[in-house]
Amino acid sequence: MGKALIIGAGGVASVCIHKCCQNPEVFEEICIASRTKSKCDALKAKLDGGKTKISTAQVNADNVDELIALIESFKPDVVVNLALPYQDLTIMDACLATKVHYVDTANYEPLDTAKFEYKWQWAYRERFEKAGITALLGSGFDPGVTGVFSAYAMKHQFDEINYIDILDCNAGDHGYPFATNFNPEINIREVSAKGSYIEDGKWVETEPMEIKRVYNFPEIGEKDMYLLHHEELESLALNIKGIKRIRFFMTFGQSYLTHLKCLENVGMTSIEPIEFEGKQIVPLQFLKAVLPDPASLGPRTKGKTNIGCIFIGKKDGKDKTYYLYNVCDHEECYKEVGSQAVSYTTGVPAMIGAAMILTGKWNKPGVHNIEEFDPDPFMDALNKFGLPWQESFSPDLVK
Ligand SMILES: NC(=O)c1ccc[n+]([C@@H]2O[C@H](COP(=O)([O-])OP(=O)(O)OC[C@H]3O[C@@H](n4cnc5c(N)ncnc54)[C@H](OP(=O)(O)O)[C@@H]3O)[C@@H](O)[C@H]2O)c1
Repeated sequence: MGKALIIGAGGVASVCIHKCCQNPEVFEEICIASRTKSKCDALKAKLDGGKTKISTAQVNADNVDELIALIESFKPDVVVNLALPYQDLTIMDACLATKVHYVDTANYEPLDTAKFEYKWQWAYRERFEKAGITALLGSGFDPGVTGVFSAYAMKHQFDEINYIDILDCNAGDHGYPFATNFNPEINIREVSAKGSYIEDGKWVETEPMEIKRVYNFPEIGEKDMYLLHHEELESLALNIKGIKRIRFFMTFGQSYLTHLKCLENVGMTSIEPIEFEGKQIVPLQFLKAVLPDPASLGPRTKGKTNIGCIFIGKKDGKDKTYYLYNVCDHEECYKEVGSQAVSYTTGVPAMIGAAMILTGKWNKPGVHNIEEFDPDPFMDALNKFGLPWQESFSPDLVK
């Protein structure tokens, strides 16, 4: 059916590429392009020989001209950005210049400020519309599936949704005292930032990890979870009818929090450059270099993830609660694609988002968040490609 250019060759890209190869009717041809070409070649070597034709390329995704040249030579129908959030705008610029659809999993963040919000990418709306191309923002799990769940709940279960709590539980154990499950720099920037949630149309800010709750997760049990700022709050509050409050919680174990606090206290999580032996270095980037590579956690991680959304709202004039979630097993993921569940739960929806565009099921020129599209074909694909969802009509609520 079409050609996808996948940018990045890390944990998430690896799963997405495996899944594209499981869906060769849609992904006839892919090109894996990243900063380090040897990683692209290793993925090709692992997956070559199936129906999907694979090529590789070296690209610096910070450079728009390089991206344009690559797109012009490979001629993809869609570009899937699985590099880092810093590259979102350059890749969108290249897509605009070449009139090719765009998909990503994380919103743009400037390198020198740990602030993630959609304004930079939403500013491209008119230009994408005029070019007749679609930008699908946030096609991972959270953001991503959480938005699809919200659109599905709105379409099939509610007349209005007043409260959403997004709960992200990773009960996986990799045996290290401290490691992050995806890119350490992005992960630590996210969890060390102030928390926030939206209530009555306004952001309410909290100190980092200030709000803690305990939740009894299906198939996992009780875990401590903390309120974080998360990017999908911003778009869901606009796109879901009737929202009064929307919050995001993520589970963290005590060991992770103690290590993080210590690293923060000694300045290792700072993104302010410092001078070290005559060279400018960013402490957080140095920390990334000494932490375990998330890709290496796959064979060691045991346990499950449970990510989902609890909705409270009204249907036919009556109060209603509804919980949609997915449970994913780290070891099963590793057996299937050689990655742990955090990369898996992001890489599968990235493939599905690109498939929605390639098949024309989702075609809406402009820049759109995932909940703006019809959730039904995406929900079907989640069941088919390894992230089956479950529902409950009487969930425990977050106090
Ligand atoms: N929505 C969600 O649920 C969710 C969850 C987890 C992660 N994510 C997002 O998924 C993305 C990928 O995460 P990951 O864990 O796979 O990260 P990762 O393992 O660090 O992989 C990032 C890849 O991008 C490449 N890259 C970085 N800068 C580049 C540049 N300037 N030009 C070309 N390639 C470049 C890296 O190249 P090298 O190999 O040379 O370093 C690496 O292959 C991130 O944006 C992350 O925020 C989303």
